[in-house]
Amino acid sequence: MNDETVLNDLAPAAEKLLERHLGVAKEWFPHDMVPWSLGRDFIEGEEVELPAMDEGVRSALFVNLLTEDNLPYYFNDIERMFGSDGAWGTWVRRWTAEEGRHSIVIRDYLTVTRQVDPIALERGRMEQVSGGVTPHPATVADGLAYLAMQELATRIAHHNTGKALTDKAGYEIMKRVAADENLHYLFYRDIATTCLELDPSGTVMAIERQVLGFDMPGTGIPNFTNHARAIAKAGIYDLVIHYETILVPLIRRQWRLTELEGLDGEASAAVERLERYMARLAKVAERMKERAADRGADAEQPAVEPIGALAG
Ligand SMILES: [Fe+2]
Ligand SMILES: [Fe+2]
Repeated sequence: MNDETVLNDLAPAAEKLLERHLGVAKEWFPHDMVPWSLGRDFIEGEEVELPAMDEGVRSALFVNLLTEDNLPYYFNDIERMFGSDGAWGTWVRRWTAEEGRHSIVIRDYLTVTRQVDPIALERGRMEQVSGGVTPHPATVADGLAYLAMQELATRIAHHNTGKALTDKAGYEIMKRVAADENLHYLFYRDIATTCLELDPSGTVMAIERQVLGFDMPGTGIPNFTNHARAIAKAGIYDLVIHYETILVPLIRRQWRLTELEGLDGEASAAVERLERYMARLAKVAERMKERAADRGADAEQPAVEPIGALAG
């Protein structure tokens, strides 16, 4: 099915899911959550002293915020795919406004608590946004599959970052943001599921492409590979988490690709390849968990791999 037909056929579902979203999304205010009393002036030319913390957690804060900052390019991509009319357009603009709230609250929180160097952060933002690197899914179905995975991954990464923080305000902020990401995830998960019903073979092919090529949003952030490694080491987002909390719930429990009927030859072959990939990931995840358990207190070697370690 071509993209125009897919979008038209999905429009009633998009409208229902948009209404559901607007019904459950709660209004909240970044300024209510930031511990302003901890803030003080920055002195020009003076190096900012950062509090001691796990570098992986600091990397996660840095990457999480810069990803939210890259919003103009995500908006651009999503509006290009879905268009600006009707429920699709309303959704895209609403989504953008909500994501903007995330960068506001995380930036204010980090500026007040000085957990990330504000100069590195601003330079990183300039570099990231000036580069304008975002994924460019080839079809609407590719976009839906990618966004479902990406919103779920972001929810998990934000929540795990919050759990790794030592203060309550930080935990509450990341939990609040993760709750928004969960609603975004539910929109994309359910619209992608409807897409699978409308065009099973085309959507299966898209899911395969997006699962095999998935990268956390963040490519384009300076030094992203090192940050991703540190984030994995801190247990915030790694291959095991990606497999167990993103791929298994979506592919096995939600989309149930192996149970689909009426797939064409190419799509059936794609399901088989995906099954082999999932089996391989399951083994790697098991091995990584065993290695981490064996190593125990030995912190010398990285316990986990970032996702992308299996790429190629
Ligand atoms: Fe967000
Ligand atoms: Fe989101």
